[in-house]
Amino acid sequence: MPSASDQAQPPGSGPAPVGASGPQAASGPRHVAIIMDGNGRWAKARGMPRTLGHRAGVNALKRTVEAAPDLGLECLTVFGFSTENWRRPVAEVSELMGLVKLYVQTDLARLAREGVRVRILGRREGLPADIRDIVEEAEAKTAHNTRFHLQVAFNYGSRADIVDAARSFALRVEAGEAQASDLDEARFESLLSTAKGPPVDLVVRTSGEQRISNFLLWEAAYAELVFQDILWPDYGPEALAAAIAEFRGRERRFGGVDAVKTASQGAA
Ligand code: FPP
Repeated sequence: MPSASDQAQPPGSGPAPVGASGPQAASGPRHVAIIMDGNGRWAKARGMPRTLGHRAGVNALKRTVEAAPDLGLECLTVFGFSTENWRRPVAEVSELMGLVKLYVQTDLARLAREGVRVRILGRREGLPADIRDIVEEAEAKTAHNTRFHLQVAFNYGSRADIVDAARSFALRVEAGEAQASDLDEARFESLLSTAKGPPVDLVVRTSGEQRISNFLLWEAAYAELVFQDILWPDYGPEALAAAIAEFRGRERRFGGVDAVKTASQGAA
């Protein structure tokens, strides 16, 4: 049986695996990413317009962000608005834009005080100017924080992010600043909008749907997936704790045969 030190390092998995031998349940996770699904169904079940489902979704987001550091997470990434969500009715798109603004306006001071660093993933161009400004303000005012990382994917699509990374490397080659042979997985990963966060350990989708929907396609290569049968507006600390418990019961093998325990998962 190969020792952990014989095991190849999985791409993007952070520190080299240490101390693993034989099946090992995962500890962690450090980084959870959530597809917050089910706002519309939550509203419909109550005879309300979809927009009220999104508003209730913001409260669920607040509860979840507040609980995450106490549950041992270092980073939470949430899918707030996808590049495909522009296809929704104009009123709903404008409600979602308004909600991100409201969330930042009402919570930025608290997030900054509580040591949360906020990053917005996704294409800035295409966002209304006032949303771009508020997003930049949130990033600037929390840039010094290190206790917890909140990444909000907004106007984000993973394929678009991968294309942007490829284009930016191609431009460097064109400018004579890099050679095609310089490109490897680590270099490519450093060009993705998620490059500053820890590796994604767990992707959660709420509402019972079981799809990835163009979210973190590269980053989730070795993430565990948990699908929870709860509509996003009902989400909070208990549901997040349940997802984490399910993650901890999984064996992570990163394509190898033995489960590995990485330094990031609490090994000495
Ligand atoms: C999916 O529910 C949810 C979204 C498209 C957006 C998630 C947005 C929020 C939680 C609120 C605002 C976000 C931020 C970042 C402040 P759905 O509308 O697809 O629900 P359905 O599948 O039941 O119709």
